[in-house]
Amino acid sequence: MQSLSTAFRQCLLPLLCLLAPLAQAQSSAPWWKHAVFYELYPRSFADSNGDGVGDLNGIRSKLGYLHDLGIDAIWISPCFPSPQKDFGYDVSNYVDIDPMYGTLADFDRMRSEADAQHIRIILDFVLNHTSDQHPWFLNSRSARDSSKRDWYIWRDGKAGGAPPNNWISDFGGSAWTFDEKTRQFYYHYFEIAQPDLNWRNPEVRKAMLDVTRFWYARGVAGFRLDAVDTLYEDPALHDNPVKPGSQTTGDPDMTNLYNDKLPENHEVLRDLRTIADQHNAVLIGETWTTDVAELKEYYGAHDDELQLPMDFLFMTVDSLSAPKFRAQIASIENSGEWPVFVMSNHDRTRAYSRYGDGVHNDDIAKLLAAMYLTLRGTPIMYYGEEIGMENNDPKRKEDVIDPFGLPNWPENKGRDGERTPMQWSEAPNADFTTAKPWLPVPASYKSHNVADERKQPNSVLNFYKQLLALRHTNPALLEGDYVPVAENDPNVIAYLRRAGGHTVLVALNLSNAAVEFRPQLEPLQLNSAVPLLTTSSKRSTSAGVLALGPYSVYIGELPPAQ
Ligand code: GLC
Repeated sequence: MQSLSTAFRQCLLPLLCLLAPLAQAQSSAPWWKHAVFYELYPRSFADSNGDGVGDLNGIRSKLGYLHDLGIDAIWISPCFPSPQKDFGYDVSNYVDIDPMYGTLADFDRMRSEADAQHIRIILDFVLNHTSDQHPWFLNSRSARDSSKRDWYIWRDGKAGGAPPNNWISDFGGSAWTFDEKTRQFYYHYFEIAQPDLNWRNPEVRKAMLDVTRFWYARGVAGFRLDAVDTLYEDPALHDNPVKPGSQTTGDPDMTNLYNDKLPENHEVLRDLRTIADQHNAVLIGETWTTDVAELKEYYGAHDDELQLPMDFLFMTVDSLSAPKFRAQIASIENSGEWPVFVMSNHDRTRAYSRYGDGVHNDDIAKLLAAMYLTLRGTPIMYYGEEIGMENNDPKRKEDVIDPFGLPNWPENKGRDGERTPMQWSEAPNADFTTAKPWLPVPASYKSHNVADERKQPNSVLNFYKQLLALRHTNPALLEGDYVPVAENDPNVIAYLRRAGGHTVLVALNLSNAAVEFRPQLEPLQLNSAVPLLTTSSKRSTSAGVLALGPYSVYIGELPPAQ
């Protein structure tokens, strides 16, 4: 007998896929509002040349997989020439591809095959700093009167050889490093090998804006902008206020009042947006904010900055709590802006490990997917999330290779754990490479990998595929507003999405107990709702009650009100 999921794949999914372009074509929304983005870490996605590190030809070979999954745009973490001190976030040439990943010709081929699969390419633009091996910095540090001296932030130290002020680097220690040759300090918000560019210098600004033009001409559809909070510093270099306590690096805790979120950052974002608009491109921001009011600033006072500043407040909700997630969703909804939802990325422990309880991990993975892929807004997935990849943190300090992990050990084990190779099958090294992978593959690859999950009807992967197909075709999920339901329920997050006469109810049980959920939808008729996608064994009952198993999902279409 044919299994349900086989029937679904053979009949319903192709139908939904056929309808998807139709639904999108009818909409006047900009493309990035309907798109599902997917961050992939190029070192870890697919290795085509057997050196243990992923590459562009590897990515190209997997475009069919991404298309079938329902991905519209991939954001590739930095793939430019780099000494790899911070694994690509230390760029030594913005307009080429690192030989480890391939060539510009490989990039062009990947992009053109991505076009054929209707997948757009987003590159990662590291604006705040370059590598200390970038020719600009080599020139800058060569002499005080070098033509590029003012492209970076150089200052004299204080009497006695102390750094110019008390600013602390994100990677630990002073944010100033003394350069013997020219006997001045250079400033680096991040690692020593990542000197900050001087954005107050118009030549820097022009050179960096030209980088985006170079890649637009090669067909990229936008950029994820790295570290946009810290482009500018107080020219008077005031000390930051020190707080009680210390950081995990042992450095004093402080408020980065004078080197974080300066108003001048927004001028750069507006310049970048002007160019992006000439190319129908999107700008995604790495925007760390303490509240939604701060996040709102990144959209621009006239919607003239970032279309997609990431809401990390959602990603940092610290437990699987319905009230906490509901409050976070409400605050971004109430801001009047277009939300951008992220559950995991290359800097944070994977959601699978953060929220998993060790018993229901796959159910929880589906639950989180059902939440952020049905909310109003643009979702950005992280590679491997769709198969339930878990973190594989180093067990010993000597195994850590992330430059952030070393100074923070053991309180923070660094970011290696969330950057491990994609798990393609249960073959050795999860079929990511034929060599020794640059980071060890988590043991879970035997149970969580693409090849096996394709065959399992209830796998996390098949759930994602069904969910993404639904998201792309259901008008309410695509265009609808967001109406919270049963806002005081301690366990269940529920909401309606409504558009063009369609109403979809999403109900998510965030607790580990079965619940009888009463959404009180009068005059909408729960009893005649048509389930679209569920993970619950039971569905609606005759008395307006939805029986939801532990960590289960119900997505159903409600008939129009009488
Ligand atoms: C961003 C990147 C992170 C990197 C840092 C410095 O935060 O996401 O991975 O280490 O910038 O470039």
